[in-house]
Amino acid sequence: MLTEKMNKALNEQINKEMYSAYLYMAMSAQCTHDGLNGFGNWFMVQYHEEMAHAMKIYDYVNEQGGKVTLENIEKPPEQFGTPLEMFQATLKHEQFVTSSINNLVALAYEEKDYATQIFLQWFVTEQIEEEANDNDMIAKLKLIGNDGNGLFMLDKDLASRTFTQIN
Ligand code: FEO
Repeated sequence: MLTEKMNKALNEQINKEMYSAYLYMAMSAQCTHDGLNGFGNWFMVQYHEEMAHAMKIYDYVNEQGGKVTLENIEKPPEQFGTPLEMFQATLKHEQFVTSSINNLVALAYEEKDYATQIFLQWFVTEQIEEEANDNDMIAKLKLIGNDGNGLFMLDKDLASRTFTQIN
């Protein structure tokens, strides 16, 4: 069972995950348009991951007898600058999501909702990985700098990323 407050906060998180998916889809579109198909693939995999995050919360709310309420999804920006700027924006966004997850955990404690605390642990761990991936990409892109060859090689590398369904 979910309290009304917890239910509302989980619905808001569904919206944030859907926005994340939309944001990464927009980044994927820019990369593909700019001829960086590997980067485009990386962000499209990220889109699928975010949709899976949204669905994981959606299923949990239903499982707990709560009510899923869907809101508008905000329009993402149209331009993101260089690949480095794109990953810096991605890291910033993921840090925002991490704080949002932390707030949910804090609320679950407040509400004495032990089931939701356990459920959210998966997201706490996931956020560590999400931020680490972005930091890794930022470090690589800083090393590459203005070297077109380096960017070409990294783009080739990112083309092999695949989406693995989460449980
Ligand atoms: Fe669903 Fe990237 O956090």
